[in-house]
Amino acid sequence: MPLRFLTAGESHGPGLTIIVEGMPAGVPISEDELAVDMRRRQGGYGRGGRQLIEEDRAIISAGTANGVTTGAPIAMTVENKDYKNWIGKPIPMVTIPRPGHADLAGSLKFQQENMWLIAERSSARETAARVAAGGVAKALLAELGVHIGGHVLAIGGVHATVPDWPWSELFAAAEASPVRCADEEATQKMIARIDQAKAERESVGGIVEVVAWGVVPGLGSDVHWDRKLDGRLAAAVMSIHAIKAVEIGDGFVSSGKSGTQVQDFIRWGDGRPIRMSNHAGGTEGGITNGEPVVVHAGMKPIATTVTPQPSVDMQTGEETVMQYVRSDVCAVPAAAVVVEAMVALVLADAYLEKFGGDNITETCSNVKHFLTAINWTAQA
Ligand SMILES: Cc1cc2nc3c(=O)[nH]c(=O)nc-3n(C[C@H](O)[C@H](O)[C@H](O)COP(=O)(O)O)c2cc1C
Repeated sequence: MPLRFLTAGESHGPGLTIIVEGMPAGVPISEDELAVDMRRRQGGYGRGGRQLIEEDRAIISAGTANGVTTGAPIAMTVENKDYKNWIGKPIPMVTIPRPGHADLAGSLKFQQENMWLIAERSSARETAARVAAGGVAKALLAELGVHIGGHVLAIGGVHATVPDWPWSELFAAAEASPVRCADEEATQKMIARIDQAKAERESVGGIVEVVAWGVVPGLGSDVHWDRKLDGRLAAAVMSIHAIKAVEIGDGFVSSGKSGTQVQDFIRWGDGRPIRMSNHAGGTEGGITNGEPVVVHAGMKPIATTVTPQPSVDMQTGEETVMQYVRSDVCAVPAAAVVVEAMVALVLADAYLEKFGGDNITETCSNVKHFLTAINWTAQA
């Protein structure tokens, strides 16, 4: 694992800390660039009050000089603006676990009576740190000609029809939608679905698609289970809060079809093998095949609802209901940005694994050398 990252920080603490280690020197990184995805993660129709308080910005405190990486570990912090509202207040005592959260399992694991302490770290506030780390990975991938976009395919059972446009156009259209969906009609229906959930004191989940294009063939490996890129992508994306299903390419749909309907036939074109389709989602045998890497993630409905949910008071043993805390009704558009970040981190790691390089010029020249050796020309 040449590229690693760690995050620390609590939801209502002073802030989040991120360390990304293994980046080659010479990659341009700016706080303003990182801020774009930080803002994208905060948005989306259906978010709760917390996003009105926060104004996330990753501040780089180590690992860059004059706007480029030095090869040293990159350290970043993200301030929790909400922290000032908690200074001087006693830590709340929470003994009623919220179903769907880490509260109960975490309090048993760490033998913590106060589930507030569990929720502080297990909160999806941590995804802001992942997006900062993912921004660093995206900066590396951009140098290598790889681009990543994400959009929403479904919210609360409302499905989008995905237009057959070039990726960059598709993702630009999605960014203009309050629910990050390129289908205008579906956007309106998704907004109505979120409004309905809110009115019913409910929450909704959905499905996002993240695509990385410009990826070279040969990343990952077929020879060991833990080197397979599809498995690495699935683990990274599944580790995101509330993501309960991960699919590469047409995974679930293809499982109900015949073999010839789902294989990506190979033809000769542009001086190299080309594919007639991309049902496989850019990996075969755990190795990238040069097609866009396509990842789908299913997000469960937000666990916290205004409608009370049965739970127990662990202190008294009495049956009761969970205590409602400020919450999103829908965070699917935000989740797309977090999935982008995790896909970027896995791909950046796989690039450095195959091509190495302590300076980005070395990495780029190793990539070029490999592509020349396999006669791989970029497809029009
Ligand atoms: C961007 C994002 C925002 C989220 N916001 C909330 C929220 O406001 N309320 C909530 O109950 N869960 C929210 N979640 C989901 C919970 O963090 C998650 O369900 C919980 O930590 C338990 O983890 P698990 O669902 O992976 O088992 C959010 C998830 C993401 C990715």
